[in-house]
Amino acid sequence: MGNKITGNISGAKSLKRSKTGRLAALILSLALLICFSVGCGKKEENPNEPRLLLGFSQIGSESAWRIGNTRDIEEQADNYGVSLMLENANQKQENQIAAIRRFIAYKVDVIAFSPIVEEGWDNVLQEAADAGIPVILVDRDINTQKEGLTTCLIGADFYKEGVMAAEYLIRKADSLELDHVNIVEISGTINSTPMRQRQAGFYDTIANDPRMTVLESIDGDFLKSRGAECMKYLLETYGDDIDVVFSHNDEMTLGALPVIEKAGITPGKDIIIISIDGGQEAINVLMEGKINCVVECTPKLGKALMETALKLKGGETVDPLIHPEEQVFSDEMDLNDLAPRGY
Ligand code: AHR
Repeated sequence: MGNKITGNISGAKSLKRSKTGRLAALILSLALLICFSVGCGKKEENPNEPRLLLGFSQIGSESAWRIGNTRDIEEQADNYGVSLMLENANQKQENQIAAIRRFIAYKVDVIAFSPIVEEGWDNVLQEAADAGIPVILVDRDINTQKEGLTTCLIGADFYKEGVMAAEYLIRKADSLELDHVNIVEISGTINSTPMRQRQAGFYDTIANDPRMTVLESIDGDFLKSRGAECMKYLLETYGDDIDVVFSHNDEMTLGALPVIEKAGITPGKDIIIISIDGGQEAINVLMEGKINCVVECTPKLGKALMETALKLKGGETVDPLIHPEEQVFSDEMDLNDLAPRGY
């Protein structure tokens, strides 16, 4: 009897289990059917479909640095499967603003841009924020009263570059036992981040050295042609009094050098030449002895840009500031084994 009851009870349980099992199997089959027909869970990535649509507004093509930067961003977009809408603003802020508006209208996933100058972006960035599109600053910073219009900045520490340039000059003045040093500065685009920060880093560092005098700072706009014009004016104005040219980029330096040579002055010997960027052409001229020091500013920001944009699309938080590692190349070192610069 007990066995029967047990048996009955046991039989009832097994009957119940088999009913539950059939129901579960039915639910599972239905779920699988729905998944296969409409898709569920994590969508499989289609290798032919871009992972992200990125709108990028580049400043222009003013230097080997800028051209190298554009190329690097294009290559890294390919590497990361990112579809890139690239617009070249030809050195005009209004073109950059118009490009950002087109990116918003196109509903890109992420907007990135290298602001030519620091001021004047609030309205268009508010429009991007209203459209819910995250914005990444590449290379240069902006000056804004509003919080949260951009997510992060990926670019060089320009202040440190100015410090490294000045530290080299102080070492050079020591080694040449100079008791007075007259400097002319050919600056980058007025009101741009590299212009402001390189100048601030350089000035702050020489401020404690009573030998150093800046005779004049003149705007070379990061252009080779302007570098030549500025140098012509500086030589006409200060002639033999110039001990040092501090130029904010290689392009302007390469424009200034032939003007110095034409005036019968030997760059690298009669005048100390300090440049920033570290492109191949300037490094070659440094190795010839016509430039004394080049502070590196790497244009290779594409990898960090793609990784950051993908994180933003995935809803992840990102580092607010990414500075690449940079170094100094100078006549104090042997550069024969230096790898090709790639820009
Ligand atoms: O913003 C980076 C600067 O812009 C580089 O030093 C210069 O070469 C470029 O044009």
